[in-house]
Amino acid sequence: MADAYFSLFTLIVLIPLALIAFLYFLVRPRPVKIPIKNRHVFITGGSSGIGLALAHHAAAQGARVSILARSRNKLEEARNAVRLATGIDVSVFAADVRDYDAVKRAVDEAGPIDVLLLNHGVFVALELEKQELSEVKFTLDVNLMGSFNLIKAALPAMRTRKDPQQPVSIALVSSQAGQVGIYGYAAYSASKFGLRGLAEALQQEVIADNIHVSLIFPPDTDTPGFAEENKRKPELTKIIASSSGAMKPEEVAQKTFDGIKSGSFIIPCNLEGIALSLATAGLSPQRSFLMATVEVLAAGILRIAGLCFQWTWYTSIEKWHNQRKAFVELMISTSSRFTSKELKHFELGPCFRRLVADIAT
Ligand SMILES: NC(=O)c1ccc[n+]([C@@H]2O[C@H](COP(=O)([O-])OP(=O)(O)OC[C@H]3O[C@@H](n4cnc5c(N)ncnc54)[C@H](OP(=O)(O)O)[C@@H]3O)[C@@H](O)[C@H]2O)c1
Repeated sequence: MADAYFSLFTLIVLIPLALIAFLYFLVRPRPVKIPIKNRHVFITGGSSGIGLALAHHAAAQGARVSILARSRNKLEEARNAVRLATGIDVSVFAADVRDYDAVKRAVDEAGPIDVLLLNHGVFVALELEKQELSEVKFTLDVNLMGSFNLIKAALPAMRTRKDPQQPVSIALVSSQAGQVGIYGYAAYSASKFGLRGLAEALQQEVIADNIHVSLIFPPDTDTPGFAEENKRKPELTKIIASSSGAMKPEEVAQKTFDGIKSGSFIIPCNLEGIALSLATAGLSPQRSFLMATVEVLAAGILRIAGLCFQWTWYTSIEKWHNQRKAFVELMISTSSRFTSKELKHFELGPCFRRLVADIAT
């Protein structure tokens, strides 16, 4: 009997404790705290949406804030909005992140940066076949090359800063479409997955200089960019990537700074994001031994959950194509044109009804 109790005790208590202790010593890089107050936070895309919320948040936390974007008018509006809300004056820089020289001038003028927050981004959901290559290149140039430009411009001064004991941060705003590929996001996902490779490699290159890299993975967020994107979203993207609702930019900003301050490499923004981050942890760095423990214990079950998602997505795609095929066959066999009123009588799903309406008009 005593043997059975000892086995049970080993199984329930000793093995998990040994795992936690092992991971405590294993995780790298080591935990770090990055202060924001009285530090210089430089935010790209800081004139709108998530970037503007980040600027508000940083200013409210007592940081010196600089924002960069293309439109000077929007930058001035953002400056006024932050001043009105916090009493703090942010510095504004009008530049296109694709233009290295313009970016370098802005970064030099802004002065040494403690938190470089690369939030700029463009996003359009469209099937690759329908998307012009120029738009694919634009997406990659802004989202990916723009981030390289900023890092190349800012890194030398960040490395040679006056107080190397004070940790500094480079944080990149990715997307959940940078964790998993979704129908309609070939170009966007490629640009955001690219940020992950950049961040993982960069963290190894700058860790010796006490520079800490973070990757933020927001879900759908209620911003002007998101509203614009929704106008063109393919029906299948809506079906597959449908969420219970968009987050508020202020909530994303709060999660972002919480993550940066605690030096997290991966920063999810909601519960679904935490699950996605655990499922896609892969070989990314992890500073928290507790999160590492959760990653190890949840790996198997999350793989099953991931496979369930893939099943749902591929089933939706198959159904959608079958409905489309059925309709085309019906059109051919009857050789008739339907009025939209007649089409409403078909017992078809909403995505298909839109397709039908498209074809009929
Ligand atoms: N909203 C979402 O649902 C969502 C979800 C996941 C991830 N994200 C990511 O979050 C970030 C912010 O998105 P958002 O929704 O807040 O977008 P947004 O409202 O459209 O704001 C985008 C910001 O980026 C700037 N920008 C765009 N192109 C630029 C360029 N070439 N050079 C310099 N600045 C540029 C814009 O200003 P100008 O146009 O004046 O240049 C603006 O300040 C993006 O990286 C996006 O991919 C968003």
